[in-house]
Amino acid sequence: MNSISSDNNSGRTCPLDYRYKPQDLAAASIDTTDTLYIVGGLYGNPLALKALDQLLTTELTENPRCIFNGDFNWFNHTDQYFLSINEYALQHDCLRGNVETELARRPFAGGCGCGYPDTVADSVVNWSNLIIATLNASASEHPQLQARLEALPITKRYQVGNAKVQVVHGDCQSLAGWSLARENLIDPQTNTIADISACNADIIACTHTCEPIATTLSSAITGATQDIAVINNGAAGMPNFSHEPFGLITRIGITPSPHETLYGTKLDSVYVEALPLRYDQKAFLDWFLALWPAGTAAHESYFQRLSEGPKTTVADSRGTGFT
Ligand SMILES: [Fe+2]
Repeated sequence: MNSISSDNNSGRTCPLDYRYKPQDLAAASIDTTDTLYIVGGLYGNPLALKALDQLLTTELTENPRCIFNGDFNWFNHTDQYFLSINEYALQHDCLRGNVETELARRPFAGGCGCGYPDTVADSVVNWSNLIIATLNASASEHPQLQARLEALPITKRYQVGNAKVQVVHGDCQSLAGWSLARENLIDPQTNTIADISACNADIIACTHTCEPIATTLSSAITGATQDIAVINNGAAGMPNFSHEPFGLITRIGITPSPHETLYGTKLDSVYVEALPLRYDQKAFLDWFLALWPAGTAAHESYFQRLSEGPKTTVADSRGTGFT
């Protein structure tokens, strides 16, 4: 692929090379699997990765497929953890999230590429830009790894049973888009429904916004032949609910999950489920504090969420059709 061009200098903007059309997603080639784990937003958490490995190795179906759909890097700014997180993830399917895209961009553009909307405070955007700059110091020491990140796709499509599954990082138009955020899916607007329909998928799985939501859109709304499920896992490597210290991942399969699920639905014969990723919370906080002590950007921006979770509850994320 061509080198990623540098046209991004803040966490507010959405670079042009982030964009694609929903119709292009519908035309992409398809890989087939019976079981698909979708791990969005690991954020460099090595304890969450250890918990994920345990789930994958104890999965009952043969050869479960796993895709890290972006932002598997974030807090892992030391050489040791930059290497170990990426080496694990790159053994599986991966999408380039905005974090990996900016780490691979040469020269480094200085922004996180999050495309933060106006509802996000300037302080959060500034902290994100400081975090990516710190992480980039490790990435720049490993040009071969940067090249592997640059070569990753930004969308991927699967066939699971009789369901077409579209995996993205952000939304149906941009790898850092926010239209599949919780507030936009609870009462989706015409543009969002049109984009979802144009993907020609039965299930759309995403992440990026750090806030989980799972819902189904009825065929009466979308014009599709059956309901469409949209599931945003929030973050695999951070708490997603108030005082619930676990990450969240998505599993799609022709059989139900053998592991604990928080909520799910069944589309025709395919199960779509949200699984808690129960990592060692104390060990993770100790690890985080060693890398990001008080006063650093990541500590300022994330420590409260990592310790206590956001204010939302599981019920806030369980939309229409998910029980
Ligand atoms: Fe992201």
